Amino acid sequence: MEYRVLLAESDRLMLERLGQVVNDTPNFTLAAKFQNVSDALGQGTVFNPNLILLDIEQPGGMGLIDEFKKVYPTAAILCMGEKWQAENASHSVKAGAKGYIIKPFTGVELQETVDTFSRLGSEAGSETLVFFSPKGKSGKTTLIANLAMALARKTREPVGIIDADLQFGDMAVFFNLAPQTTIVEAVRDTKFLSPASLSSYYMPVAPNVSVLCGTKTPNMIDKVSIHRLENLIAMSRSLFRYILIDVPAGFNPTSIAAAEASTTTFVMSMINGGYEIDHMKRALDIFRDWEDMETRVKTIFTRVEPCDSRSKLELSQKLGYPVTEIIPNEYTIVSDAADKGKMATDIRPDSPLSRQVDRLADNIIGRQHRIRWAAS
Ligand SMILES: Nc1ncnc2c1ncn2[C@@H]1O[C@H](COP(=O)(O)OP(=O)(O)O)[C@@H](O)[C@H]1O
Ligand SMILES: [Mg+2]
Repeated sequence: MEYRVLLAESDRLMLERLGQVVNDTPNFTLAAKFQNVSDALGQGTVFNPNLILLDIEQPGGMGLIDEFKKVYPTAAILCMGEKWQAENASHSVKAGAKGYIIKPFTGVELQETVDTFSRLGSEAGSETLVFFSPKGKSGKTTLIANLAMALARKTREPVGIIDADLQFGDMAVFFNLAPQTTIVEAVRDTKFLSPASLSSYYMPVAPNVSVLCGTKTPNMIDKVSIHRLENLIAMSRSLFRYILIDVPAGFNPTSIAAAEASTTTFVMSMINGGYEIDHMKRALDIFRDWEDMETRVKTIFTRVEPCDSRSKLELSQKLGYPVTEIIPNEYTIVSDAADKGKMATDIRPDSPLSRQVDRLADNIIGRQHRIRWAAS
């Protein structure tokens, strides 16, 4: 696609500099540049731009988006700011912009940002799925990894995994990765990053699946503040259609913050000895004050035997809350896959485990298209 760019930037030097960058970038032409916003609104239409780069850190700020949309209904608007601010970025997208870019930017960053929004639509369509468990060993890391693959395979859209299980994160082990960058570097650098540059902190593991690995040593937990974690999640929303977040077991600032940032929180428990219902009940109580709890909090039991609709119904009745999905006991497949550094659903795509993971993926995809979750 060829972009004819209208640049509206109130700082003269910045205007010159960015104009140069736009012109030097293949497939981008600077159609017009304005230092004064009202000029851009009044005189720019003759240049027929299809991409507007708009400085929103000037008087009128966010309100300008609306005015530009009226004057240029068919152009994509990309907001520009001096630094990444999650609130600004998400406000501008809500107001109708396609994204947010930090200035000054390079041609590569501009290209990547535009690629991201043309692939995704905008961050408004992104789903943040958090996997929460009252206790350790719930099967959540296993499920997240397999589910991410299923979502990417079915939708061909970008899927990101964030390993925020800061002390016992084992996503890297799971995928056999020796990451150069982890969540620690990512949160350290979010201040200077834009979404396009954040993507290089994620490691690709399969077509359309990337992982932001956890910390290498447990004491690094102090390095990831809650505020920065929230910022990281917000920024990742403009990179991926689905973000799956592995959080530490139990209630802690990290798991709560991630759940708050989620579009869906899955509460998970592994059948093992009989206290699971009790743990799950107590976990659900924490979310009772969410007004939208019933649509936003979903439950999953793993290692369910037999893994059939009757067990699911029984679990729902005991719990007094709908059980969204059950995952069968497939220790042999799961550990065989782990030994081979592969996904259980890849080595045995025909297994009951794969089937259940597929169903869950279908539910997630369908829900986004406003189809109701399957009743059973
Ligand atoms: N569906 C399953 N059936 C049987 N064993 C499983 C299943 N899912 C995971 N496991 C095993 O349970 C253990 C914990 O799984 P893991 O995914 O690491 O859970 P968590 O991340 O909640 O600690 C691992 O040894 C894994 O192989
Ligand atoms: Mg885990």
